[in-house]
Amino acid sequence: MSAGYAGERAFVPFSELSLQTEPHSKSSESELPSRIELARPDDWHVHLRDGSMLTRVLPYTARSFARAIVMPNLERPVTTTKSAEAYAARIRERRPPESDFEPLMTLYLTESMVPEEIERAAASPDVFAVKLYPKGATTHSDAGVGGIDSLAPVLDAMERLDVPLLIHGEATDPDTDVFDREQVFLERSLRPMLDRHAGLRVVFEHITTAEAVAFVEGSPARVAATITPQHLLYNRNAIFEGGLRPHHYCLPVLKRERDRQALLRAATSGDPSFFLGTDSAPHVRSAKESSCGCAGIFSAPVAIEAYAEAFAEVFALDRLEGFASHHGADFYGLPRNLERIVLDRADWLAPERLEEGDDALAIFWGGKRLRYRARL
Ligand code: DOR
Ligand code: ZN
Repeated sequence: MSAGYAGERAFVPFSELSLQTEPHSKSSESELPSRIELARPDDWHVHLRDGSMLTRVLPYTARSFARAIVMPNLERPVTTTKSAEAYAARIRERRPPESDFEPLMTLYLTESMVPEEIERAAASPDVFAVKLYPKGATTHSDAGVGGIDSLAPVLDAMERLDVPLLIHGEATDPDTDVFDREQVFLERSLRPMLDRHAGLRVVFEHITTAEAVAFVEGSPARVAATITPQHLLYNRNAIFEGGLRPHHYCLPVLKRERDRQALLRAATSGDPSFFLGTDSAPHVRSAKESSCGCAGIFSAPVAIEAYAEAFAEVFALDRLEGFASHHGADFYGLPRNLERIVLDRADWLAPERLEEGDDALAIFWGGKRLRYRARL
């Protein structure tokens, strides 16, 4: 065969390779292990809110996860190191007794942020990253970024001080179809930003499309991505199953089955660029079940079990520990957790909600079967 043979390639991206194989076709339920043991996981993307909501939801994240990257989109966004440190102190105060859960704080990037703020963030023991919300993309994103050009001095400082940029990757112009937002952002904003800032480390948060998977796979190690349980377990049909389902509405919105399959393959591939980030985002029932319902899915109470469910679907539970407990810590340059947790094979139903009434919080996967349960 000549060197120019079209089928010959040193590197086949996983997203293409996996289309040619049926990796788990011979497996069956009985091959699932009776227990799984893994290093205690971390959640690399969570919304803990503040005040009474923080008190309500924190125990669920602290129960399963040793650490979590805490998103800064509070009603008054966390734009300074000082306010991030104060928020971290409020979180620590509200931890359940005996919990040594550690919040890893982020700053909310605005167009008026100055490079000196990045210097303060880099020197702070509490701040680990900066979050970019395109203006209008999601909950409390009005103070977000209109265009990336004005960010150059701040991104230069982040590059120099090795502070990762966490990106809600969706184009927000009204002409872009809501299902194309991620892909359009990727081409128009993310690619040029990575070219211009060749040392910047980036987490493409809560990716939802086969295109985003392929992009991360084809990027150097400085580009990583988080994947949520809802994007691994549901496709967009779930939003319309028998009627409009507000509790399945999150942003980026659920995508097609082909995208879910690509995300499942990426999460279970062992590729260290992909790691766990729940995007657990509580909104009370009255705000979800509304003529203009809020985006967000509250998954913290069943998060690790829901990931196990997704990995069990493709008989890849041996890859859960890397995704849930190793890859994120390695990317952030933090030690892996030494403590271990156990998940037992157990058929049980995810709880439907936390509390009742208008303030109830619907729980992801509520009422559905889960095949593993954490001993916590
Ligand atoms: O669905 C979402 N909810 N997506 C986000 O990006 C934000 C989050 C929230 O804060 O409610
Ligand atoms: Zn989020």
